[in-house]
Amino acid sequence: MAYSLTVNGKTSRVDVPADMPLLWVLRDVLNLKGTKFGCGIGQCGACTVHLNGKPVRACQTRIAAADNAKVTTLEGLSPDGSHPLQVAWRALDVPQCGYCQAGQLMSAAALLATTPHPTDADIDRAMNGNLCRCGTYLRIRKAIHQAAGTLAPSSKAGA
Ligand code: FES
Ligand code: FES
Repeated sequence: MAYSLTVNGKTSRVDVPADMPLLWVLRDVLNLKGTKFGCGIGQCGACTVHLNGKPVRACQTRIAAADNAKVTTLEGLSPDGSHPLQVAWRALDVPQCGYCQAGQLMSAAALLATTPHPTDADIDRAMNGNLCRCGTYLRIRKAIHQAAGTLAPSSKAGA
């Protein structure tokens, strides 16, 4: 069955089974490898992308549900790594092994799109489903604040 979807501004038609996960389509059909496979069962958040502006688990989203949708992946955050979150991620050396970080960035970007100046509680709520086995949570929170321009000078130490 053929489906149409616009990924990072580029519209593609894909001929795949209706129940193929969006994650498979992105990685194996469209060759966009920025989105990661972690658990495959909706538990880790490594595969997070935006579907019509909302963060979703690509491993749990059937392609049929993404027909005619707009999808943004890590590759679409910015053409040159200049999204404020990417800048903050580099400045604060957020990643450790890096495996979870594409999903972390996509959840953080969805948060800032709706809540430009999030509190710690906002961040914890929005990022709750994105697991990091390396425990980079404090740096993630700090980087989100920095990207939002809300990092207080006194909170720069630690993490
Ligand atoms: S790979 Fe999709 S939530 Fe873990
Ligand atoms: S940086 Fe290693 S899992 Fe998050």
